[in-house]
Amino acid sequence: MGKKIFSGVQPTGNLHLGNYLGAIKNFVDLNNDKDNECIFCVVDLHAITVKQNPNELKNNIRETVATFVASGINPEKSIIFNQSKVRAHSEAAWILSCTARTGWLSRMTQFKEKAGKDKEKASVGLYSYPVLMAADILLYDSTHVPVGDDQKQHLELCRDIAQKFNNDFEVDNFFTIPEPLIQKEFSRIMSLKDGTKKMSKSELSDLSRINLTDDADQIINKIKKAKTDPQPMPSTYEDLDKRPEAKNLIGIYSSLTGMKLDKLLNEFSGKNFSDFKENLSQVLVERILPISKEIKKLLNDKIFLDKILTDGFEKADKVASNKIKKIHEIVGF
Ligand code: AMP
Ligand code: TRP
Repeated sequence: MGKKIFSGVQPTGNLHLGNYLGAIKNFVDLNNDKDNECIFCVVDLHAITVKQNPNELKNNIRETVATFVASGINPEKSIIFNQSKVRAHSEAAWILSCTARTGWLSRMTQFKEKAGKDKEKASVGLYSYPVLMAADILLYDSTHVPVGDDQKQHLELCRDIAQKFNNDFEVDNFFTIPEPLIQKEFSRIMSLKDGTKKMSKSELSDLSRINLTDDADQIINKIKKAKTDPQPMPSTYEDLDKRPEAKNLIGIYSSLTGMKLDKLLNEFSGKNFSDFKENLSQVLVERILPISKEIKKLLNDKIFLDKILTDGFEKADKVASNKIKKIHEIVGF
């Protein structure tokens, strides 16, 4: 049976290798299975939970669409749209915020990380962010949600909200309980400068990540400068677990080539990092450079990118408006 896929990416710039290996690469595979119905959402309402420059936001929305298409998502087959245009998302988020419990939200680790030390200064939106994410998913009766490992907890919350709503209003199966689709191995790509920190859009140092718009020289340079340790390449799993930077680079290689970890450990065991880094750069350039070139090309065709979003809006809005109407009836409006 085909799956109903939904996922979202925030248009906050600097889309990177973590986004690609953790999420977008899977979007492409799911899009290529003819039995699946896929919806990929540019989640601009989520983006404004932290301050955005309006002009940059506008550009980043187009860049996210360009990245989807350049990576291989076919807009004729999958729906690509931006969240803010489909009003049902904000509306459903409010209604579901009356189902979600504050105790559930207060356990969300992403909020704690993003709000930092001064939680009082974080926006209310940043706190209720996972409820909006639940609305996104539940409006489309999504069965499967491909995301990176960092979104696992938000998906569990979404399942709890769906279950509680179905129970509270005695509407069995009204909301479909979605399954997460998370890579089994290397579901979290780490910073090139610190193997214990997630590769992130907001990290100040550009050397910490491979951006999907980087050119060959930038990729090669970043891998050359990537942090390693003074020992030769690891040879066992135990060794790998003690050496986060080595593990991350090997993980990236394995995710890109599909090569099994055993084989990789065998091949590079005891060698120095420079040989491996050369191989890794080559693999990265082969995969990322065509995407990077295509993103730049597509960004020159704003009319094409905007058309994808308006076509996507029409299709998404039909489904979401229908669901929100039913939600109104259920809650008694
Ligand atoms: P975001 O940019 O936060 O909207 O994330 C978009 C998608 O990329 C989500 O599915 C994230 O889980 C995934 N993602 C973000 N950073 C990483 C990372 N460092 N490793 C793996 N997946 C990631
Ligand atoms: N919170 C997700 C992230 O930052 C993005 C997102 C918003 C999302 N709505 C979603 C992902 C719905 C999957 C499904 O990565």
